[in-house]
Amino acid sequence: MEEYVIEARGLTKRFGDVAAVDRLDLAVRRGEIFGLLGPDGAGKTTTIRMLCAIMDPTEGTARVAGFDTVREPEKIKERIGYMPQQFSLYGDLTVLENLIFFADIFGVGRREREERIERLLAFSRLTEFQDRRAAHLSGGMQKKLALACTLIHRPEVIFLDEPTTGVDPVSRREFWDILTELHLEGVTLFVSTPYMDEAERCSRVALMFEGRVIVCDAPERIKELVEGDLLELRPDRLREATRLIETLPGVLEVQVYGDLLHVFVDSASARAPSLQAALERAGIGVHGLRQTRPRMEEAFISLIRKRLQR
Ligand SMILES: Nc1ncnc2c1ncn2[C@@H]1O[C@H](COP(=O)(O)OP(=O)(O)OP(=O)(O)O)[C@@H](O)[C@H]1O
Ligand SMILES: [Mg+2]
Repeated sequence: MEEYVIEARGLTKRFGDVAAVDRLDLAVRRGEIFGLLGPDGAGKTTTIRMLCAIMDPTEGTARVAGFDTVREPEKIKERIGYMPQQFSLYGDLTVLENLIFFADIFGVGRREREERIERLLAFSRLTEFQDRRAAHLSGGMQKKLALACTLIHRPEVIFLDEPTTGVDPVSRREFWDILTELHLEGVTLFVSTPYMDEAERCSRVALMFEGRVIVCDAPERIKELVEGDLLELRPDRLREATRLIETLPGVLEVQVYGDLLHVFVDSASARAPSLQAALERAGIGVHGLRQTRPRMEEAFISLIRKRLQR
């Protein structure tokens, strides 16, 4: 068996002058749960569509499940599952009817289908809703049904394009629990998401921005790439405080999150007292000053800024 189940070399897609995906290199091992993280317009959907052999690259090559995406698209389609960003269920059909419909499309035989559907219903926690019309399911349940439909032909690799966007936090967690179960069964998962916290559930993530992969590594390793210690505080006058802090010695970077400031400094123990003192001298109240660990979000913003400065 080949080592990598997904491999892209110099994969590029241009729309006119825009390089939606720009010289992408990726290698995903069998059984990984791989995250493609990036903001709107980063190129996630375009990447996935090329890997699923739906769209040809302008340049570069990709192999999925051992086949070339341009020369052997049919072989790939038999072996993968693809849950598009706008997955279309049939709203007038019930949960069960949707599953039967997709079983037909993928040529799942009558004998196998009954057992598979039963398993998928249980797996996606939809057994008790099997007679409900898809249009009447909650957003989270629709996503789970879409996933179940994607799994009907037992794909070895699954591509999910923003499967949790617009879903409430509880359903998001439940959806990820289901993905983790699939991962434990040995399925390779390739998941795109704009939610940085979901990176923690992946074995590796690629951070994508303006068509390029900025960094690709295990989540823990990416967080270690950020230089310095992180201080968090809630100042009274946010903008004034931000401007002041940026001028203080030892401050590497300031990020704003709502009414919170995240300040990267060369040393938390050395700089926290002087930062507090400087703000107080300027008559700015400081609340909840503490050292904290960078999350994926801080790491990503910091890495993007460094790239833009280059
Ligand atoms: N068919 C197309 N024609 C022209 N431009 C396109 C086309 N598809 C995508 N683009 C452009 O390519 C870039 C990447 O788009 P893409 O949909 O891959 O991003 P994305 O990361 O999936 O974003 P989102 O989070 O909004 O889904 C964007 O600038 C987009 O406008
Ligand atoms: Mg997209």
